[in-house]
Amino acid sequence: MSEEVKQRINNSAENYERELYREDRGEIMNVEINYEELWAYVKSALAVYDQHGGMALTGIKFSRFEHTERVYRWMMILAEEYENELDMEALQIATILHDIGYSLNKEDMRSHAQDGAVLSREYLERIGYPAEKTEFICSLIARHSDKNALHAEDSPLELVLLMEADLLDDTGAHGIIMDTWIRSIRENASFESILAHIKKFSWRQIQKNPMRTEKACRIWEEKRNLTNRFVESLSMDLYGKCDLAE
Ligand SMILES: [Fe+2]
Ligand SMILES: [Fe+2]
Repeated sequence: MSEEVKQRINNSAENYERELYREDRGEIMNVEINYEELWAYVKSALAVYDQHGGMALTGIKFSRFEHTERVYRWMMILAEEYENELDMEALQIATILHDIGYSLNKEDMRSHAQDGAVLSREYLERIGYPAEKTEFICSLIARHSDKNALHAEDSPLELVLLMEADLLDDTGAHGIIMDTWIRSIRENASFESILAHIKKFSWRQIQKNPMRTEKACRIWEEKRNLTNRFVESLSMDLYGKCDLAE
């Protein structure tokens, strides 16, 4: 891990510790997560990636922090159905930290999920967060990019919801906008080339519903209908016919 990342963890955690320790007795108080602080830590940790790494793959500015905010909102929508069955605090913390692995330099990174679990553990241990809950949160982060985990029997509901929320981002209307943006900044952009790009990525991806919970399945279906309607309508506009096989 780079010195810079270590420093960022230390700075943020020191702020926490000042609040958490009783100065008179040096004891750790009841650890309540300060979500504002946690978001601020994630935002500053991902700032470097958002400036450089976000552009590398597609040429457009893709903010990993904004992705995290969107995933968090999807997670909260999905979690409404299961309020009483979830460790909501663990799920919230895991979602906010889930892509923190991208804060590492490319050379230091092995797997963003595994690295994210290591960074999250360091952070949570430093603020004195309970060991058992830290363990659980880190296991969610470590497994969140393992595609098999979404439908695995032993996956806790918290992991399923985190993975579904993660997959719902950049799909449907958002996916169409992203594809349009990515293709439009390349050479020889045209309506036809953008439509072809949308069909190749957003449209193709949305056909198979990977969701597991009922609500997430429904949301995916709505996104699929919207994407299909969009592609059909634009095909009619450009070609006067719609043949999705083309
Ligand atoms: Fe991820
Ligand atoms: Fe993610």
